[in-house]
Amino acid sequence: MEIVEKIRRLKRERNAVILAHNYQLPEVQDIGDFVGDSLGLSMEAAKTDARVIVFCGVYFMAETAKILSPEKTVLIPDPKAGCPMADMITAGELKTLKAAHPRAAVLCYVNTTAEVKAECDLCCTSANAVRMVREALADRDEIIFVPDKHLGDFVTEITGKEMILWQGFCPTHVRILPDHILEQKRLHPDAAVVSHPECSRAVRHLSDQVLSTEGMCRFVKHSDVREVIVATELGILHRMKKENPGKVFYPASEHAICPNMKKINLEKILWALEDMAHEVAVPRDISIRARACIDRMLMYSG
Ligand code: 13P
Ligand code: SF4
Repeated sequence: MEIVEKIRRLKRERNAVILAHNYQLPEVQDIGDFVGDSLGLSMEAAKTDARVIVFCGVYFMAETAKILSPEKTVLIPDPKAGCPMADMITAGELKTLKAAHPRAAVLCYVNTTAEVKAECDLCCTSANAVRMVREALADRDEIIFVPDKHLGDFVTEITGKEMILWQGFCPTHVRILPDHILEQKRLHPDAAVVSHPECSRAVRHLSDQVLSTEGMCRFVKHSDVREVIVATELGILHRMKKENPGKVFYPASEHAICPNMKKINLEKILWALEDMAHEVAVPRDISIRARACIDRMLMYSG
């Protein structure tokens, strides 16, 4: 309790806002001023009036907040909270791929470094990837999509548009196997299955809904389902249970934990606010180019 009070007091003194991803630890979500998916967090970072953003998520998310609000101080309570998928492609590797496909439009998942975004035409999150391909890239025959092969495959399945896919993946979501879903369905035959598009095609095909984390929270809140099998990172169950006390949630796999999302805790948030650490910085030239690609996404997301 004492630590929560200290964080609240310092937050007021520093004119800070705490943004937390849906996969954060329960106590971190509970202290967040806004809890959401990558798209929601980007939009919140772009519009907040606060002077300081304490970003409780992985590094690329905090970096995106800094790119969208360069005049603000963006702090990440643990700078080692990275996203292994985002690190599966470098700007150099993307440049080589672009050179092999000079006419292709380049779409990147927001789970990329600022350097990679600076090499792309357009950005997307799991909430709007289909829309970006259908609307923003409707007239393009050749599209490079990086880095998630599963999200890319999902978009191709929905839109019918073939893309040149980088072979990246999320080490947490690939731990969820079709057999896990089948077993949960056997145990809970009335439950709906929701999965994240970072899951494999086989898992997605066993799902009733394939959605971003925010889309999942919206679906379970507004649909009539009473029981839900959840195929994504386990942190989301806290929010689902909190918002839906009458419903029951079953994790598809107990192993679906993103260790990086769990690196942030209350002690580190307090430390970040006390010492104004660790400040996220993006070189100006990279930031300007990456911003153009994120802004194009936000134009379609208002
Ligand atoms: P969302 O944008 O759906 O929250 O997903 C982010 C992420 O990192 C999923 O692993
Ligand atoms: Fe990256 Fe996967 Fe963790 Fe999301 S769950 S932050 S994609 S490693």
